[in-house]
Amino acid sequence: MYSARAVRDRRAESAARRSGQALRIRGRFGFRQGGAALTSLLVTPETPAADLSVVQDFVADYLAEDEVLAAARARGVALGCEPISPGSGAALRFLASSLRARAVVEVGSGAGVSGLWLLRGMLGEGVLTSIDFDPENQRAARKALAEAGVAAGRARLITGRGLDVLPRLTDGGYDLVFVESGWVDYASYLEEGLRLLRDGGVLAFGNLLRIAAAGGTQEEHAGLRQLTEVIRVDPRLVPFLLPFGEGLLIAAKRDVQ
Ligand SMILES: C[S@@+](CC[C@H](N)C(=O)[O-])C[C@H]1O[C@@H](n2cnc3c(N)ncnc32)[C@H](O)[C@@H]1O
Repeated sequence: MYSARAVRDRRAESAARRSGQALRIRGRFGFRQGGAALTSLLVTPETPAADLSVVQDFVADYLAEDEVLAAARARGVALGCEPISPGSGAALRFLASSLRARAVVEVGSGAGVSGLWLLRGMLGEGVLTSIDFDPENQRAARKALAEAGVAAGRARLITGRGLDVLPRLTDGGYDLVFVESGWVDYASYLEEGLRLLRDGGVLAFGNLLRIAAAGGTQEEHAGLRQLTEVIRVDPRLVPFLLPFGEGLLIAAKRDVQ
């Protein structure tokens, strides 16, 4: 059932289409966040299919970041370690919350932006294990956690290569495994991730669209093609693609016993 207003809107849309006029759907959602007006949603029949950046802006503005996240993001950009987009960060927070996550591991701490989003979704006593081989980036991540008031016991920052550290972590001990360290060695990350996750836990790979659409080495492209296909058909996984920001490929681990 459509409301009277929705029926009026649909009629207006059809009339505008028929008359060839630009159709404007503006600000229907009317949300405000942190005192700042959200980007109005503006769609016209002439909007090229590829030009949907307005939707990406809307998603990013809808769950805008606070000052602590903004400061961590600025440090990440200055260090050149591409923080996760607000849309993907919010998706990670949502996943951590819906999984009631107590234990999460991420590879690619960067300057701590994804770590903060994850911690904000996890249970209060949850512990984030965050791995990065770059000590300078990890210092920035530590600073971000301190600025956010995260208790020392809630984050374990380990300096090292992901594939050296993950094998030391407990089988089935994690609710969520997030990897954002470049699309190389991802097949190994998939196997390690499956070993680490409890049944129903979620694997998330970041940077999918950035590498696919706008760059990356040949090795990364090959890794991406191979892994996306493997995850799509792996009977141990329930896959899904989230197209926010730089894209997240997520997959829940089935209970296959
Ligand atoms: C895109 S940044 C991560 C951004 C971070 N997730 C955030 O939102 O702030 C990638 C990070 O992965 C780290 N990295 C790359 N390859 C790695 C590896 N094999 N093991 C551990 N860290 C790695 C880099 O040093 C860099 O800090």
